[in-house]
Amino acid sequence: MSVPISTIVNGQSIDLAVDPRSTLVDLLREQLGLTGTHVGCRTASCGACTVVLDGNTVKSCCVLAAEADGRSVQTIEGHVDGERRARPGELDDVQEAFVQVQGMQCGFCTPGMVLSVRALLAANPDPTDQEAKAAIAGNLCRCTGYVNILRAIRRVADERAHAKESTDV
Ligand code: FES
Ligand code: FES
Repeated sequence: MSVPISTIVNGQSIDLAVDPRSTLVDLLREQLGLTGTHVGCRTASCGACTVVLDGNTVKSCCVLAAEADGRSVQTIEGHVDGERRARPGELDDVQEAFVQVQGMQCGFCTPGMVLSVRALLAANPDPTDQEAKAAIAGNLCRCTGYVNILRAIRRVADERAHAKESTDV
């Protein structure tokens, strides 16, 4: 048995049928082919499956696909957030900052980290270090560290503030 849902994924309206037992990450990966959202633990522990649902980060391994009905989902393949919007095939300012200060980590955890940072900066353009740490606390890395990710967050916040000052003058 499947249930019909209507959802918006990365700005695109989609109508489809989902198994009521399937998770959002399986909908994204298996039905929509958006494999940038990764699966690590399936227990809401690692954050590899992080996506943005109606503006808030969720661990998509623990959200039912049917819960996306009538809601908006953003994955790493989306290009809609940030003061400087990326065009398809280009990096947005968060991704670019990750690259420039070596905040990008392995391909496994980085998409979820980027989504958490996008959501943080959309809600809080000038986060303190403590707020930044809290925002990425659900994205686990078992091999490198978080210092450069915090630097990337600061860099984007400062660049956006500077760009805003320039346009306000
Ligand atoms: S796969 Fe969802 S939190 Fe680890
Ligand atoms: S889990 Fe990705 S760099 Fe550690």
